[in-house]
Amino acid sequence: MRRCLPASLLALALAAGANAAAQEAEADNASRRPMPVAPKGARRGAAQEGPGQDRPMPVGPLRRGWESARDLHSAANPAQVRVTHLDLDLRADFAAKVLEGSVVLSLQRAQPDLTTLMLDTRDLEILGVEASQDGKAWTRAAYQLNGETPFLGSALQVTAPEGHDRVRIVYRTKPSASGLQWLAPGQTAGKKHPFMFSQSQAIHARSWVPCQDSPAVRITFTARIRTPKALRAVMGAQNPPAGPRTGDYRFTMEKPIPSYLLALAIGDLDFKPLGKRTGVYAEPSMLPAAAKELADTEKMVAAAEKLYGPYAWGRYDLLMLPPSFPFGGMENPRLTFATPTILAGDKSLVSLVAHELAHSWSGNLVTNATWRDFWLNEGFTTYVERRIVEAIYGKDRADMEAVLGYNTLQADLKAFAPKDQVLHIDLAGRDPDDGMTEVPYEKGCLLLRHLEQTYGRPAFDAWLKGWFARGAFQSRTTADLEEDLAANLFKSDPAKEEVVRLAEWIKAPGLPDNAPAPASRAFAEVERVTAAWAAGSLKTAGLPARAWSTQEWLHFLEALPADLGPARMKDLDQAFRLTDRGNAEIAHRWLLLAVKHRYEPAYPRLEKYLVAIGRRKLIKPLYEELAKTADGKLMAIDIYRKARAGYHPIAQASLDPILGWKP
Ligand code: BES
Ligand code: ZN
Repeated sequence: MRRCLPASLLALALAAGANAAAQEAEADNASRRPMPVAPKGARRGAAQEGPGQDRPMPVGPLRRGWESARDLHSAANPAQVRVTHLDLDLRADFAAKVLEGSVVLSLQRAQPDLTTLMLDTRDLEILGVEASQDGKAWTRAAYQLNGETPFLGSALQVTAPEGHDRVRIVYRTKPSASGLQWLAPGQTAGKKHPFMFSQSQAIHARSWVPCQDSPAVRITFTARIRTPKALRAVMGAQNPPAGPRTGDYRFTMEKPIPSYLLALAIGDLDFKPLGKRTGVYAEPSMLPAAAKELADTEKMVAAAEKLYGPYAWGRYDLLMLPPSFPFGGMENPRLTFATPTILAGDKSLVSLVAHELAHSWSGNLVTNATWRDFWLNEGFTTYVERRIVEAIYGKDRADMEAVLGYNTLQADLKAFAPKDQVLHIDLAGRDPDDGMTEVPYEKGCLLLRHLEQTYGRPAFDAWLKGWFARGAFQSRTTADLEEDLAANLFKSDPAKEEVVRLAEWIKAPGLPDNAPAPASRAFAEVERVTAAWAAGSLKTAGLPARAWSTQEWLHFLEALPADLGPARMKDLDQAFRLTDRGNAEIAHRWLLLAVKHRYEPAYPRLEKYLVAIGRRKLIKPLYEELAKTADGKLMAIDIYRKARAGYHPIAQASLDPILGWKP
C-alpha cells in the first residue's frame, strides 16, 4: 500500500503505526506547539480544542485533565495539521452498495512546515490523493494507508507540501462499511426502492469519509450527493426542504460540527412540515403517521429554548428511518434520525424526540472531547430531555420516565464490573460503542439532578444555560466540567460543594450514597396493585390497567417476577392482548417475560418482532435471554439466521458474539 513515501516519512509512519505511539507523539507536540489560529467558524480564539492543543500547558493537578483529553480512538494529529472544512462529492451506487467520489479537506497548520496530515479511515478504498495551493491546480501527493487496527481502522498519512492547504482524496466505500446500511427494497415500508443511511457515532464516520474522526475536531462542510433520480438525499445540514427530486443534491453545514455528526440518508423520502421550523421526512406511506406522532416537536423546541437559550441550528427536522436503524435516535444536526419503533400512535414514546433535540445543546453545541467524556453528552442530554418532557407533558410523566431510567441503571450497575460503573470511563483498547450503557445516561443525569437539588433550580438552571453558552461549538472534557462547576456554580455557595462530592460521582463506581432516588406517585400505585396481583389477592380483571399509560405498563411488566408460571402469563395475555401489542416498548417487555416463562403462544410474535426490528436496545436483551438456555439458544440462532442480513453492521457486531455467530 505504500506509495512514493520518502524514507524519513516511512520511518515516522512505522513509528506511528502503533496507535498509542502516534498519540504519544501528538500529545508531545501539543505541549510544544500551541495552535496559533482559531479555525474557521470558531466563536472564540481558543475554540475547537483538540486533544489539549490550544490551551497553555497546564501545571500541577490539571495535568491529569490534560492527559485525559487525549483521544485514544483517533490517529489524527489535529495539534499539528487540522482539517477545518470538507467538500464532499459522492455518488451512491445502490447496485454495488458503495459511495464513490471525492472529498477535499481544507487544512490549517500549527506551523507552515508541518506537512504530515494524519486521517482516520476504515475499510476505504483510496484511489488517489492530491494537494493544491489554490483549489484549482492539483498535484499528486504522497500517502500511505497504515495497517488495520481492530475497530479503529487504518490511519491514512498524507504529505501536504508547504502552502498546499487543500488535499483531495478520491475514494470508494466498501459494501461492508460499518457506518452505512444499504437496504434492499423489501426492507423498506414501500418495498419499491432501495434505501441507505449513515450512522457515524461513535467512530464510523471514517468508514465513509476519510477525516479526523475525533469529537475534538470540528469541521464545516459542503456536499454534493448524486443518487438514482427517483430517490431523495438528505443530510444533517442545510438543504432546501422537499425540493424536486433531481438525483443531484447539495448541502452546506456552516456551523462547525464534530465528524460523528456527519449524516446522510437516501431513499424514497417525502417531507411534511410540523411547525414553522420543524418537519419530518419519511417514506410516503409512513409520513402521515409520523407527522401525527411528532406533532409536538415545534413545542419542544420552544420549551428547550426557554430553558437553555436560542436553538443554534436553524431548522429542526426528523428523518423516520426503516426499522433496521440500530438506535432509537441519532442527534444529527438539523436532522434527527429516528427509529419507527417510536410510532406508537399515542405520542407515548416521543421523549426520544425530546432527547435528540436536547443534544442540540448538550453534545452538538458543547461536545464531549473524547469518548471517555461521553457522559457529558448523554447524561446532560438525559437531564435536559426530562426537563423538556416535564415542560410539555408534566411532572408526572417526567417522574415516571426518571424511575424507569433509574431501574435500568440499577440493573446495569449490578451486571457491570466496577470500572465500567464510572462516569469518566476508561475505554483504552476498547470500542467506544461499548461505552453506550445506562451509566453515562442515567448516572450522568442523576448527578445533574443532584446538583439541581443541592443548589436549587434557579441557580442550577442559570449555571447549565451558561455552560452551554460558554462551551458553544467547542469540545469539553470531564476536567473542564470540574473547573467550570468550581468557577461558576460552587462559588455561589462553597459550603455545598462538600455536600456534592463531585469527584466521587465522576471517578467512583456505583452510585454515591447522596444520589437522589427518583420517585413517581403513579408508579407507587402500580407497584401496589402488581404486588397484590402477584400474591393472588387481586384478580386479573381487578387490575386498573385499562387506564394505564405506556409508562405504567412498562413499569408493571418490569416489576413482574420471572416465575409467574404459564397459566398466569396466559391470564394476562387474554385479559390485555399483550402478545398483539403494537407498541414496540410494551411488546419488548412482554416478549422478555415470555422468554423467561417459556410462554410459547408468544413465540411467533417474538420471531416476527426480531425479524422486523433492528433497534439494538429492543432486540439484544431478547437474544440474550434466549441464549441463557440450550433450547432457547437454538431458537435464537434459528431466528438470527433469518434476521441477521436485515440488521445494521453495528447491531450485527453486538449480536454475533451472543449467538456465537462467525461472520
Ligand atoms: N447519540 C445517541 C446514540 C448513540 C450513542 C449512537 C453512542 C452511537 C453511539 C442518541 O442520542 C441516543 O442516546 N439514543 C438513544 C435514545 C434515547 C432516548 C436514550 C437510543 O438510541 O436508544
Ligand atoms: Zn443521546
